[in-house]
Amino acid sequence: MAIITIHREKCTRCGMCAAVCPGRLIAQPSKKDFPAPVPEAEEFCIDCGHCQACCPRDALSLASMPWADCPIIDADGLPSPDSVRLLMQARRSIRVYKKKPVPKRIIAELIDTARFAPTGSNKQPVHWTAISRPDDVQKLAALTVEFIREMLPLAADEATAKRFRRLIGAWDRGIDRVMRGAPHLIVVSCPPEISFPAADCATALAYLELFAFSRGLGTCWAGYFTAAATVHQPIIDFLAMPSGHQCHGAVMLGHPKFGYRRIPKRKEAAIDWR
Ligand SMILES: Cc1cc2nc3c(=O)[nH]c(=O)nc-3n(C[C@H](O)[C@H](O)[C@H](O)COP(=O)(O)O)c2cc1C
Repeated sequence: MAIITIHREKCTRCGMCAAVCPGRLIAQPSKKDFPAPVPEAEEFCIDCGHCQACCPRDALSLASMPWADCPIIDADGLPSPDSVRLLMQARRSIRVYKKKPVPKRIIAELIDTARFAPTGSNKQPVHWTAISRPDDVQKLAALTVEFIREMLPLAADEATAKRFRRLIGAWDRGIDRVMRGAPHLIVVSCPPEISFPAADCATALAYLELFAFSRGLGTCWAGYFTAAATVHQPIIDFLAMPSGHQCHGAVMLGHPKFGYRRIPKRKEAAIDWR
């Protein structure tokens, strides 16, 4: 079965499908010609769906993407640039959470939205491990502290050792600076053969964080945990990620206890205009 079908009765030969294809896999030598897939299309198509998604006449269909699975964009439903900018500037890393759990349905919705983040070669390699039980999040915090205790004698410098000692000391006094008492943890991992695993995972988490904020939820990167999860076997065993996967990031998730009144100042963008 052909991966790309051009429906000539609907095609206006506008050339958009050929122009947007990342691999130039649709040929249209002139505006008089109908577009047609090149012979290597099957081999090189990354299944991004752009050719079908841009066609104003639905004159091109992809075997892998039934139209029913590709909704028409309601342009009136898109937020204004000011709204998006405000959302991005007002999002904060949340470190104080309510005990109230986030329903599984909402966690699933966050992940289902974040899967639309860009990925290298559209591989969509990100695997999600959703730690939904607060007790399990605490267990992972404890395993992370255990790892940091082990790392303390190997700390690269005194500043790092000091940070480790403070975090361990807080934990021993009942203060969780690893998971911040968040009820949930969303972990992302990738298989090893991917070109940009860290970028794919971090971008997916950035999407998730922004959407979570728009839903009134709070997130925060779990950096200590992420570092521990790459090497500390008890955490790797606990996570039981798919075989060969490596963790490239994790965010805590929950209902924020406090809101923010202002947008904090950030460094000016460091730009070299060339
Ligand atoms: C890769 C990464 C790791 C982070 N690790 C932690 C962490 O372990 N604990 C924490 O409280 N915040 C962590 N953060 C959150 C940053 O401290 C936070 O983004 C920064 O202070 C700016 O605050 P904002 O996100 O509210 O703008 C991390 C952020 C990133 C991107």
